[in-house]
Amino acid sequence: MGKMNLDILYNRRGTDSVKWDHKDFVDSRVSDNALPLWLSDMEFKVADEITDALIKRIEHGFLGHSMPGDNYFQAVQGWYKRRFNWDIKKDSIFYSPGVLPALGFVLRGFTKENDGIIIQEPVFYPFAELINGTNRKIVNNQLINDNGDYSIDFSDLECKVKDPNNTMMILCSPHNPVGRVWTKEELIKVVNLCRENDVLIFSDELHCDATRSGVTHTPTMTITDYNKIITAVALGKTFNVGGVPISQIIIDDEELKEIWHRETRLKHYISFAPPLDMVLTETAYNKCEYWVDEVMEYVEDNYNFLVEYLQKYLPKTKYKKPEGTFLAWINFGVYVDYEELFELLITKYDVLIENGRTFGESGAGYFRMTVACPRSFLKEGLDRIVAAIYELTDK
Ligand SMILES: Cc1ncc(COP(=O)(O)O)c(C=O)c1O
Repeated sequence: MGKMNLDILYNRRGTDSVKWDHKDFVDSRVSDNALPLWLSDMEFKVADEITDALIKRIEHGFLGHSMPGDNYFQAVQGWYKRRFNWDIKKDSIFYSPGVLPALGFVLRGFTKENDGIIIQEPVFYPFAELINGTNRKIVNNQLINDNGDYSIDFSDLECKVKDPNNTMMILCSPHNPVGRVWTKEELIKVVNLCRENDVLIFSDELHCDATRSGVTHTPTMTITDYNKIITAVALGKTFNVGGVPISQIIIDDEELKEIWHRETRLKHYISFAPPLDMVLTETAYNKCEYWVDEVMEYVEDNYNFLVEYLQKYLPKTKYKKPEGTFLAWINFGVYVDYEELFELLITKYDVLIENGRTFGESGAGYFRMTVACPRSFLKEGLDRIVAAIYELTDK
Protein backbone atom coordinates (compact mmCIF):
# COMPACT_ATOMS: atom_id res chain seq x y z
CA MET A 1 0.00 0.00 0.00
CA GLY A 2 1.34 3.43 -0.91
CA LYS A 3 1.70 6.15 1.64
CA MET A 4 -1.24 8.46 2.20
CA ASN A 5 -0.96 12.01 0.96
CA LEU A 6 -1.38 14.07 4.10
CA ASP A 7 -0.40 17.33 2.41
CA ILE A 8 -3.91 17.92 1.07
CA LEU A 9 -6.07 20.49 2.82
CA TYR A 10 -9.74 19.56 2.41
CA ASN A 11 -12.63 21.99 2.50
CA ARG A 12 -14.60 21.22 5.64
CA ARG A 13 -16.73 24.33 5.61
CA GLY A 14 -20.46 23.89 5.66
CA THR A 15 -20.39 20.69 7.73
CA ASP A 16 -21.07 22.41 11.06
CA SER A 17 -17.53 21.55 12.06
CA VAL A 18 -16.80 23.31 15.35
CA LYS A 19 -13.28 24.11 14.21
CA TRP A 20 -14.25 25.58 10.83
CA ASP A 21 -17.90 26.65 11.03
CA HIS A 22 -18.22 27.69 14.66
CA LYS A 23 -15.07 29.68 15.27
CA ASP A 24 -17.02 32.21 17.30
CA PHE A 25 -17.19 29.52 19.99
CA VAL A 26 -13.72 30.82 20.97
CA ASP A 27 -14.16 34.53 20.39
CA SER A 28 -17.11 36.33 18.87
CA ARG A 29 -14.83 38.75 16.97
CA VAL A 30 -13.14 36.07 14.96
CA SER A 31 -13.43 36.45 11.19
CA ASP A 32 -14.70 33.70 8.97
CA ASN A 33 -11.33 33.75 7.19
CA ALA A 34 -9.42 32.93 10.33
CA LEU A 35 -7.05 29.98 10.03
CA PRO A 36 -8.30 27.49 12.61
CA LEU A 37 -5.30 26.00 14.38
CA TRP A 38 -7.33 25.58 17.55
CA LEU A 39 -9.21 22.52 18.89
CA SER A 40 -7.69 19.06 19.01
CA ASP A 41 -9.18 17.96 15.74
CA MET A 42 -6.93 16.89 12.86
CA GLU A 43 -7.12 18.05 9.25
CA PHE A 44 -6.62 14.49 7.96
CA LYS A 45 -9.39 12.46 6.35
CA VAL A 46 -10.37 9.28 8.17
CA ALA A 47 -9.01 5.98 6.85
CA ASP A 48 -10.71 4.67 3.68
CA GLU A 49 -11.55 1.45 5.49
CA ILE A 50 -13.70 3.44 7.93
CA THR A 51 -15.57 5.24 5.16
CA ASP A 52 -16.17 1.96 3.30
CA ALA A 53 -17.38 0.14 6.40
CA LEU A 54 -19.80 2.93 7.28
CA ILE A 55 -21.19 3.07 3.74
CA LYS A 56 -21.70 -0.69 3.77
CA ARG A 57 -23.44 -0.55 7.11
CA ILE A 58 -25.75 2.26 5.96
CA GLU A 59 -26.55 0.42 2.74
CA HIS A 60 -27.86 -2.44 4.82
CA GLY A 61 -30.73 -0.09 5.52
CA PHE A 62 -31.35 -0.70 9.22
CA LEU A 63 -30.10 1.43 12.08
CA GLY A 64 -32.10 -0.09 14.90
CA HIS A 65 -31.20 -0.25 18.57
CA SER A 66 -27.81 -1.85 19.05
CA MET A 67 -25.56 -2.98 21.88
CA PRO A 68 -21.85 -3.71 22.00
CA GLY A 69 -21.24 -7.34 20.98
CA ASP A 70 -18.27 -9.68 20.79
CA ASN A 71 -16.77 -8.11 17.66
CA TYR A 72 -16.75 -4.74 19.34
CA PHE A 73 -15.19 -6.01 22.57
CA GLN A 74 -12.56 -8.03 20.70
CA ALA A 75 -11.59 -5.00 18.61
CA VAL A 76 -11.07 -2.89 21.74
CA GLN A 77 -9.19 -5.66 23.55
CA GLY A 78 -7.02 -6.36 20.50
CA TRP A 79 -5.94 -2.74 20.11
CA TYR A 80 -4.85 -2.25 23.72
CA LYS A 81 -3.13 -5.63 23.85
CA ARG A 82 -1.16 -4.97 20.65
CA ARG A 83 -0.21 -1.39 21.39
CA PHE A 84 0.23 -1.36 25.16
CA ASN A 85 0.35 -5.02 26.15
CA TRP A 86 -2.73 -4.33 28.24
CA ASP A 87 -5.03 -7.30 28.84
CA ILE A 88 -8.47 -5.82 29.27
CA LYS A 89 -11.19 -8.25 30.28
CA LYS A 90 -14.32 -8.16 28.19
CA ASP A 91 -16.54 -7.52 31.19
CA SER A 92 -14.35 -4.60 32.24
CA ILE A 93 -15.30 -2.59 29.13
CA PHE A 94 -18.23 -0.21 29.41
CA TYR A 95 -19.74 2.04 26.80
CA SER A 96 -20.09 5.77 27.30
CA PRO A 97 -21.16 8.44 24.83
CA GLY A 98 -17.80 10.21 25.28
CA VAL A 99 -15.08 10.60 27.87
CA LEU A 100 -16.53 13.79 29.36
CA PRO A 101 -20.02 12.33 29.87
CA ALA A 102 -18.24 9.41 31.58
CA LEU A 103 -16.41 11.83 33.83
CA GLY A 104 -19.76 13.40 34.68
CA PHE A 105 -21.19 9.97 35.60
CA VAL A 106 -18.15 9.20 37.72
CA LEU A 107 -18.28 12.53 39.55
CA ARG A 108 -21.95 12.07 40.36
CA GLY A 109 -21.81 8.35 41.10
CA PHE A 110 -18.57 8.09 43.06
CA THR A 111 -18.22 11.41 44.91
CA LYS A 112 -20.60 13.68 46.73
CA GLU A 113 -21.33 17.41 46.65
CA ASN A 114 -18.50 19.58 48.01
CA ASP A 115 -15.93 16.77 47.71
CA GLY A 116 -12.57 18.00 46.48
CA ILE A 117 -11.49 16.70 43.07
CA ILE A 118 -7.78 16.94 42.30
CA ILE A 119 -6.71 18.11 38.86
CA GLN A 120 -3.31 19.20 37.57
CA GLU A 121 -3.48 22.58 35.87
CA PRO A 122 -2.86 23.72 33.27
CA VAL A 123 -5.20 21.01 32.03
CA PHE A 124 -8.04 20.31 29.62
CA TYR A 125 -10.53 22.90 30.89
CA PRO A 126 -13.77 20.87 30.77
CA PHE A 127 -12.49 18.98 33.83
CA ALA A 128 -12.86 22.14 35.91
CA GLU A 129 -16.19 22.97 34.27
CA LEU A 130 -17.61 19.53 35.12
CA ILE A 131 -16.32 19.70 38.69
CA ASN A 132 -17.99 23.08 39.14
CA GLY A 133 -21.11 21.98 37.32
CA THR A 134 -21.59 19.00 39.63
CA ASN A 135 -21.01 21.16 42.74
CA ARG A 136 -17.70 19.55 43.63
CA LYS A 137 -14.60 21.57 44.47
CA ILE A 138 -11.60 22.05 42.21
CA VAL A 139 -8.38 21.16 44.02
CA ASN A 140 -5.43 22.17 41.90
CA ASN A 141 -2.21 20.17 42.21
CA GLN A 142 -0.50 22.55 39.84
CA LEU A 143 2.19 21.11 37.61
CA ILE A 144 5.71 22.42 38.13
CA ASN A 145 6.82 24.40 35.10
CA ASP A 146 10.58 24.64 34.84
CA ASN A 147 11.01 26.74 31.69
CA GLY A 148 8.58 24.60 29.72
CA ASP A 149 9.61 21.28 31.34
CA TYR A 150 6.58 20.12 33.26
CA SER A 151 6.52 17.71 36.18
CA ILE A 152 4.24 16.68 39.00
CA ASP A 153 4.54 18.43 42.36
CA PHE A 154 4.50 15.27 44.47
CA SER A 155 4.81 16.93 47.85
CA ASP A 156 1.81 19.12 47.09
CA LEU A 157 -0.05 16.07 45.76
CA GLU A 158 0.72 14.23 48.99
CA CYS A 159 -0.85 17.05 51.04
CA LYS A 160 -3.88 17.08 48.80
CA VAL A 161 -4.57 13.34 48.80
CA LYS A 162 -4.17 13.31 52.59
CA ASP A 163 -7.02 15.78 53.00
CA PRO A 164 -10.05 13.55 53.58
CA ASN A 165 -12.28 16.03 51.74
CA ASN A 166 -10.47 15.18 48.50
CA THR A 167 -11.90 11.90 47.25
CA MET A 168 -10.95 11.72 43.59
CA MET A 169 -8.14 12.66 41.21
CA ILE A 170 -8.45 13.23 37.47
CA LEU A 171 -5.21 12.14 35.86
CA CYS A 172 -4.71 13.37 32.31
CA SER A 173 -2.33 10.83 30.83
CA PRO A 174 -0.86 11.81 28.38
CA HIS A 175 -1.38 15.34 29.53
CA ASN A 176 -3.34 17.82 27.43
CA PRO A 177 -2.14 20.55 26.91
CA VAL A 178 1.46 20.32 28.20
CA GLY A 179 2.19 17.13 26.25
CA ARG A 180 3.82 15.09 29.00
CA VAL A 181 3.61 11.32 28.69
CA TRP A 182 3.97 10.32 32.33
CA THR A 183 6.65 7.75 32.98
CA LYS A 184 5.94 4.49 34.74
CA GLU A 185 7.81 5.80 37.79
CA GLU A 186 5.71 8.96 37.95
CA LEU A 187 2.51 6.96 37.55
CA ILE A 188 3.52 4.53 40.30
CA LYS A 189 4.08 7.47 42.66
CA VAL A 190 0.68 8.96 41.82
CA VAL A 191 -1.08 5.63 42.26
CA ASN A 192 0.67 4.90 45.56
CA LEU A 193 -0.27 8.28 47.00
CA CYS A 194 -3.89 7.79 45.97
CA ARG A 195 -3.96 4.21 47.24
CA GLU A 196 -2.55 5.16 50.67
CA ASN A 197 -5.32 7.72 51.00
CA ASP A 198 -8.17 5.85 49.32
CA VAL A 199 -8.53 8.42 46.53
CA LEU A 200 -10.31 7.27 43.37
CA ILE A 201 -8.36 7.82 40.12
CA PHE A 202 -10.08 8.73 36.87
CA SER A 203 -7.35 8.13 34.31
CA ASP A 204 -8.17 9.98 31.08
CA GLU A 205 -5.99 8.27 28.47
CA LEU A 206 -7.64 9.65 25.37
CA HIS A 207 -4.31 10.84 23.91
CA CYS A 208 -2.53 7.51 24.47
CA ASP A 209 -1.81 6.86 20.78
CA ALA A 210 -0.50 10.32 19.95
CA THR A 211 3.04 9.84 21.28
CA ARG A 212 6.37 10.82 19.69
CA SER A 213 8.60 8.14 18.27
CA GLY A 214 10.49 6.43 21.06
CA VAL A 215 8.00 7.52 23.73
CA THR A 216 5.66 4.91 25.18
CA HIS A 217 2.45 5.54 27.03
CA THR A 218 1.82 3.37 30.09
CA PRO A 219 -1.83 2.63 30.91
CA THR A 220 -2.26 3.35 34.62
CA MET A 221 -4.13 0.12 35.26
CA THR A 222 -1.21 -1.98 33.97
CA ILE A 223 1.17 -0.88 36.71
CA THR A 224 -0.89 -1.61 39.79
CA ASP A 225 -3.57 -3.74 41.35
CA TYR A 226 -5.06 -0.74 43.15
CA ASN A 227 -8.77 -1.31 42.65
CA LYS A 228 -10.03 2.28 42.68
CA ILE A 229 -9.08 3.25 39.14
CA ILE A 230 -11.41 4.00 36.25
CA THR A 231 -9.80 4.52 32.86
CA ALA A 232 -11.33 6.30 29.89
CA VAL A 233 -10.09 5.62 26.38
CA ALA A 234 -11.64 6.35 23.00
CA LEU A 235 -10.75 6.47 19.35
CA GLY A 236 -11.62 10.17 18.95
CA LYS A 237 -8.07 11.52 18.93
CA THR A 238 -6.38 8.41 17.54
CA PHE A 239 -8.47 8.18 14.38
CA ASN A 240 -9.63 11.78 14.10
CA VAL A 241 -13.27 11.04 14.84
CA GLY A 242 -13.69 13.38 17.80
CA GLY A 243 -17.29 14.12 16.87
CA VAL A 244 -18.33 10.51 17.35
CA PRO A 245 -19.89 9.94 20.75
CA ILE A 246 -18.35 6.65 21.79
CA SER A 247 -15.68 5.84 24.36
CA GLN A 248 -14.59 2.85 26.37
CA ILE A 249 -14.60 3.04 30.13
CA ILE A 250 -12.47 0.39 31.79
CA ILE A 251 -13.41 -0.79 35.28
CA ASP A 252 -12.04 -3.98 36.86
CA ASP A 253 -13.38 -3.77 40.38
CA GLU A 254 -16.80 -5.38 40.96
CA GLU A 255 -18.00 -2.79 43.47
CA LEU A 256 -17.01 0.06 41.15
CA LYS A 257 -18.81 -1.68 38.28
CA GLU A 258 -21.98 -1.76 40.38
CA ILE A 259 -21.79 1.97 41.03
CA TRP A 260 -21.08 2.66 37.35
CA HIS A 261 -24.08 0.50 36.38
CA ARG A 262 -26.35 2.33 38.81
CA GLU A 263 -25.21 5.74 37.58
CA THR A 264 -25.29 5.05 33.84
CA ARG A 265 -27.97 2.43 33.29
CA LEU A 266 -30.36 3.10 36.15
CA LYS A 267 -30.08 6.88 36.35
CA HIS A 268 -29.38 7.83 32.74
CA TYR A 269 -30.45 4.78 30.83
CA ILE A 270 -27.17 4.38 29.01
CA SER A 271 -26.57 0.86 27.77
CA PHE A 272 -27.22 0.79 24.05
CA ALA A 273 -24.62 2.18 21.63
CA PRO A 274 -24.96 3.85 18.22
CA PRO A 275 -24.61 1.16 15.52
CA LEU A 276 -22.55 3.31 13.16
CA ASP A 277 -20.16 4.25 15.94
CA MET A 278 -19.60 0.61 16.82
CA VAL A 279 -18.87 -0.28 13.19
CA LEU A 280 -16.45 2.62 13.10
CA THR A 281 -14.75 1.48 16.31
CA GLU A 282 -14.39 -2.12 15.13
CA THR A 283 -13.02 -1.09 11.74
CA ALA A 284 -10.61 1.46 13.15
CA TYR A 285 -9.17 -0.84 15.80
CA ASN A 286 -9.02 -3.90 13.54
CA LYS A 287 -7.89 -2.43 10.23
CA CYS A 288 -6.50 1.07 10.54
CA GLU A 289 -3.35 0.85 12.64
CA TYR A 290 -1.31 1.80 9.55
CA TRP A 291 -3.29 5.08 9.39
CA VAL A 292 -2.34 6.03 12.95
CA ASP A 293 1.31 5.20 12.35
CA GLU A 294 1.49 7.27 9.16
CA VAL A 295 -0.33 10.19 10.71
CA MET A 296 1.94 10.13 13.75
CA GLU A 297 5.02 10.09 11.49
CA TYR A 298 3.67 13.15 9.70
CA VAL A 299 2.92 14.84 13.02
CA GLU A 300 6.48 14.09 14.13
CA ASP A 301 7.78 15.80 10.98
CA ASN A 302 5.47 18.74 11.62
CA TYR A 303 6.92 19.12 15.10
CA ASN A 304 10.42 19.06 13.62
CA PHE A 305 9.31 21.69 11.12
CA LEU A 306 7.84 23.79 13.93
CA VAL A 307 11.02 23.57 16.01
CA GLU A 308 13.19 24.59 13.05
CA TYR A 309 10.80 27.35 12.04
CA LEU A 310 10.82 28.86 15.52
CA GLN A 311 14.60 28.55 15.76
CA LYS A 312 14.84 30.54 12.57
CA TYR A 313 12.24 33.28 13.10
CA LEU A 314 11.69 33.41 16.87
CA PRO A 315 14.81 31.78 18.33
CA LYS A 316 14.25 33.02 21.85
CA THR A 317 11.10 30.88 22.25
CA LYS A 318 13.29 27.81 23.00
CA TYR A 319 10.46 25.51 21.97
CA LYS A 320 10.82 21.72 22.32
CA LYS A 321 8.57 18.98 20.93
CA PRO A 322 6.25 17.46 23.51
CA GLU A 323 6.35 13.73 24.33
CA GLY A 324 2.72 13.26 23.40
CA THR A 325 -0.44 14.78 21.87
CA PHE A 326 -0.60 16.57 18.53
CA LEU A 327 -0.86 19.91 20.30
CA ALA A 328 1.93 22.44 20.56
CA TRP A 329 2.08 24.42 23.82
CA ILE A 330 4.12 27.50 23.12
CA ASN A 331 5.15 30.59 25.06
CA PHE A 332 6.10 33.73 23.10
CA GLY A 333 6.46 35.72 26.33
CA VAL A 334 10.08 36.68 25.70
CA TYR A 335 8.84 38.69 22.73
CA VAL A 336 5.34 39.93 23.50
CA ASP A 337 2.54 40.09 26.00
CA TYR A 338 0.37 37.07 25.23
CA GLU A 339 -2.96 38.88 25.66
CA GLU A 340 -1.87 41.56 23.19
CA LEU A 341 -0.72 38.89 20.77
CA PHE A 342 -3.99 36.96 21.11
CA GLU A 343 -5.94 40.15 20.36
CA LEU A 344 -3.88 40.91 17.29
CA LEU A 345 -4.10 37.35 15.97
CA ILE A 346 -7.88 37.42 16.26
CA THR A 347 -8.52 40.95 15.06
CA LYS A 348 -5.92 41.44 12.33
CA TYR A 349 -3.90 38.36 11.40
CA ASP A 350 -6.80 35.91 11.30
CA VAL A 351 -5.27 33.05 13.22
CA LEU A 352 -7.21 31.08 15.73
CA ILE A 353 -5.10 29.38 18.40
CA GLU A 354 -6.09 28.80 21.98
CA ASN A 355 -5.18 31.10 24.82
CA GLY A 356 -3.36 29.04 27.46
CA ARG A 357 -5.21 30.76 30.26
CA THR A 358 -8.32 28.80 29.28
CA PHE A 359 -6.55 25.77 30.81
CA GLY A 360 -6.13 27.45 34.19
CA GLU A 361 -4.31 30.58 35.39
CA SER A 362 -1.03 28.68 35.26
CA GLY A 363 -1.51 28.39 31.48
CA ALA A 364 -1.30 32.18 31.09
CA GLY A 365 1.44 33.14 28.67
CA TYR A 366 1.01 30.01 26.56
CA PHE A 367 -0.87 29.21 23.39
CA ARG A 368 -2.15 25.82 22.31
CA MET A 369 -2.08 24.99 18.64
CA THR A 370 -2.79 21.77 16.77
CA VAL A 371 -0.06 20.49 14.47
CA ALA A 372 -2.03 17.58 12.98
CA CYS A 373 -2.59 19.34 9.69
CA PRO A 374 -0.93 19.69 6.26
CA ARG A 375 2.47 21.32 6.64
CA SER A 376 1.55 24.22 4.35
CA PHE A 377 -1.37 25.04 6.64
CA LEU A 378 0.86 24.98 9.69
CA LYS A 379 3.39 27.18 7.91
CA GLU A 380 0.71 29.70 6.93
CA GLY A 381 -0.40 29.91 10.57
CA LEU A 382 3.17 30.34 11.76
CA ASP A 383 3.89 33.02 9.13
CA ARG A 384 0.94 35.01 10.43
CA ILE A 385 1.96 34.54 14.06
CA VAL A 386 5.49 35.73 13.27
CA ALA A 387 4.12 38.75 11.39
CA ALA A 388 1.96 39.65 14.40
CA ILE A 389 4.88 39.28 16.81
CA TYR A 390 7.14 41.37 14.58
CA GLU A 391 4.45 44.07 14.43
CA LEU A 392 4.20 44.13 18.22
CA THR A 393 7.93 44.15 18.81
CA ASP A 394 8.58 46.85 16.20
CA LYS A 395 6.20 49.21 17.92
C1 LIG B 1 -7.91 14.91 27.72
C2 LIG B 1 -9.24 14.90 27.03
N1 LIG B 1 -10.29 14.28 27.59
C3 LIG B 1 -11.51 14.26 27.00
C4 LIG B 1 -11.73 14.89 25.79
C5 LIG B 1 -13.10 14.88 25.19
O1 LIG B 1 -13.55 13.58 25.06
P1 LIG B 1 -15.02 13.26 24.54
O2 LIG B 1 -15.23 14.04 23.29
O3 LIG B 1 -15.00 11.77 24.32
O4 LIG B 1 -15.95 13.64 25.63
C6 LIG B 1 -10.66 15.56 25.15
C7 LIG B 1 -10.87 16.24 23.88
O5 LIG B 1 -10.15 17.10 23.46
C8 LIG B 1 -9.39 15.57 25.80
O6 LIG B 1 -8.35 16.20 25.24
